[in-house]
Amino acid sequence: MISPILTVSGGAAPGGRSLVEALEDGAVLMFPDLAFPFSDFETRFVERPFADGKAKNVSIRGEAAALKGAAGTPEEQEALRQVLIRYRAFAQGLIDRHLPEYTGRITLAGTSYRPFDVDRRKLSWRRDDTRLHVDAFPSNPIGEKRILRVFRNINPSGQPRRWRVGEDFGSMAEKFLPRLPGYSPLSARLLAGLRITKARRSEYDHLMLHLHDALKQDMAYQERAPQADVEFLPGQTWVTFSDLVMHGAMGGQYMLEQTAYLPVAAQAHPEKSPQRILAAKLGRPLR
Ligand SMILES: [Fe+2]
Repeated sequence: MISPILTVSGGAAPGGRSLVEALEDGAVLMFPDLAFPFSDFETRFVERPFADGKAKNVSIRGEAAALKGAAGTPEEQEALRQVLIRYRAFAQGLIDRHLPEYTGRITLAGTSYRPFDVDRRKLSWRRDDTRLHVDAFPSNPIGEKRILRVFRNINPSGQPRRWRVGEDFGSMAEKFLPRLPGYSPLSARLLAGLRITKARRSEYDHLMLHLHDALKQDMAYQERAPQADVEFLPGQTWVTFSDLVMHGAMGGQYMLEQTAYLPVAAQAHPEKSPQRILAAKLGRPLR
């Protein structure tokens, strides 16, 4: 089954299911009409990229944090930081209002401003986010947490954010799990000891990184796997578990993004997490 895009107006998913259930099943929730206005001063941030060009994105990690990767005068950079702080609050408000089961359980992580067109240069295959993948962070082991992301298209000239979404996580894992290399607790300890990873890489983290790579390297899968093209228009906000939903970013410029972490145990149905799906496919708990 291909991940469905559910339009949410008025607070319920179609069919009377709760939004949390739909999300945990692998849907993308799309909110067509939430307000996030820019002031006259702030419109400059969608007229040209205020980024130093070294990183893909401009970001803050927490409300008190300094802005990373930005360009502009000190005044402009402070205003951009305030936009991100406001977007962080907007994402929290969306969670509190539409996903109240997660309130108090979810932790907000980084907030980013993505002013560049989706990178279509010939990047290394590993960094090529136009290829279908699930998110995994090489240096930041995620363990028993889920990755929930809140995106918003802030393009000023009508340009959509174009995505591909793929098949459900279980069907994908079925095909790729047998190809992945085995987990070594010893090398996981070594990577942490050398500070290559910020914490010990669990077996789950190991599997997700190798899934991410195996997916992106398999061009036959990229072309032929079940998939659908999706467009998110300016002013639309969309929310999904990016560790569960197969996605590729195909085009679009100017977007805001908030990352949040949710413990697997705080899900309505922990058995629908990629952690438990992978364990079930292997027939044993992950190490
Ligand atoms: Fe991604």
